[in-house]
Amino acid sequence: MDYKQLIAETLHEQLSDQLELNEIKDLLEKPKHADHGDVAFPTFQLAKLFRKNPAQIAQEIGQSVSSPLIEEKQIVGPYINFFLKKEIVSNAVLKEVVSEKNNFGNLNIGNQSNVPIDMSSPNIAKPMSMGHLRSTVIGNSLANIFEKVGYTPIRINHLGDWGTQFGKLITAYKKWGSEEDVRKEPIKELLRLYVKFHAVAEDDPSLLEEGRLWFKELENGNPEAVELWTWFREESLNEFNKVYDRLNISFDSTNGEAFYNDKMEEVVELLDSKHLLSADQGAHIVDLEKYDLNPALIMKSDGATLYMTRDLAAAIYRKRTYDFAQSLYVVGQEQSNHFNQLKAVLTEAGFEWADDIHHIPFGLITKDGKKLSTRKGKVVLLEDVLSEASSLALQQIEEKNPDLPNKETVAEQVGVGAVVFHDLKNDRLNNFDFTIEEVVQFEGETGPYVQYTRARAMSILSKAGVFDFDASSDFELSDDYSWEVIKLLQEYAHTVKRAYLNYEPSIIAKHAIHLAQAFNRFYANVRVLDEHDEKEARLALVFATTEVLKEDLRILGVEAPDEM
Ligand code: ARG
Repeated sequence: MDYKQLIAETLHEQLSDQLELNEIKDLLEKPKHADHGDVAFPTFQLAKLFRKNPAQIAQEIGQSVSSPLIEEKQIVGPYINFFLKKEIVSNAVLKEVVSEKNNFGNLNIGNQSNVPIDMSSPNIAKPMSMGHLRSTVIGNSLANIFEKVGYTPIRINHLGDWGTQFGKLITAYKKWGSEEDVRKEPIKELLRLYVKFHAVAEDDPSLLEEGRLWFKELENGNPEAVELWTWFREESLNEFNKVYDRLNISFDSTNGEAFYNDKMEEVVELLDSKHLLSADQGAHIVDLEKYDLNPALIMKSDGATLYMTRDLAAAIYRKRTYDFAQSLYVVGQEQSNHFNQLKAVLTEAGFEWADDIHHIPFGLITKDGKKLSTRKGKVVLLEDVLSEASSLALQQIEEKNPDLPNKETVAEQVGVGAVVFHDLKNDRLNNFDFTIEEVVQFEGETGPYVQYTRARAMSILSKAGVFDFDASSDFELSDDYSWEVIKLLQEYAHTVKRAYLNYEPSIIAKHAIHLAQAFNRFYANVRVLDEHDEKEARLALVFATTEVLKEDLRILGVEAPDEM
């Protein structure tokens, strides 16, 4: 039930000459304080239309509206505040959740059209950074949000698997590397070689030239170079997959930058045929002055293509392959300029769909307020971070619930879930601090708190022995504790839609926290298992909470253990 819609319809009966139903709905607000009602209609914007002052308008309309849904209305200055009939709303909402279960809140905005989401995209032969973790979990959650509102998301891992650094790596490997060492600890060893290359090149610049030559060999298909590159790529991908497996995330495509090697010529020709390319000290650029942007570098003077060239080819390839409704790029905000340039070049080239490309930037993960740096040689592997989270979770489970079966499995779900939840609960653009001990807490606004609340709700249902409800039962509840939970359930579809419109998983995470908090207040004050007229309705509320919390967590990419 959409009570905003129903109130809007009621108001529309009075206002149909002046306003459309949707305009009325858009004006309705949710008051910040419960004593100002459940829905408020502010009349400021009507003053011009009615040539009266807002308070007068509120009086006139307020007196004449009525609906069986309205328990009480209060006219406060320019506002009409509505208090709803709690039992009617709770009955309707609980009936919906009980029958729709995890489909509750689904929308069909997208008509199943495709939305490729460029996410994760770490660089081969380097450790996956915390920034790549952010891209992975934000991208995955956006994919779930888009799916819930009726799109078909396509998760793409645009691996950084091409570029001059591979020439450097091949050079370093041939000088100082061994197959055995790379096999043992691929990422650590490849990083060591890369770091050594730069250290040695400081004194011996001829090394840089050697690196350039090896990259040329690679581009020309020299078998030795290609074999090494293929091997490094595979080893790296194996390591990345360990992290993806633990996060329970998979991709529909792992076409990285190298995939576009044979697709760039066409791009360069296209730009050339549209007279967009100009020469700049031997290099080819697209001037973007009219967009207030630096020129985009398309081809270096030696003919080598760049990150930008590959992104242009990828954008065109995605449009052709998926005919997307939107194309998203979940990449840190330090690349905003790059994506502005990408869109500008595509617009210049005459592609109207450039407007459907959206860079989804995000902030940094910090330590004590400072930027995390992968100090030369010293690497924190993401896998180790996840393992530490998991073992901290295990410690807490040992204390709280030593007899729990499958403790290790649950600890992994809680530990990894905690890291993911922490990443997603902040507004995407905010920087945030990462201290593992704070992340894996069972209290406060954390993933484990939400999981724990849901597991408690599940245990209430097991005690009562009911997991299934008949939607034709009566679920009327009118106490204030239930009402706070009901309101959060009722606004679920609206919440999902906001998360979709703002590309903001934190809206879902906040919903989960608020619902868990409201549920805990309910459970502390309302006796669910006592024999009572409202027992079934109360249990239905518990059930609805377990379903919606689970769905919130699923959308975020966090598991919901039934017991913990
Ligand atoms: N590999 C890049 C990096 O780590 C991110 C790639 C993002 N995706 C893209 N299509 N440019 O910075």
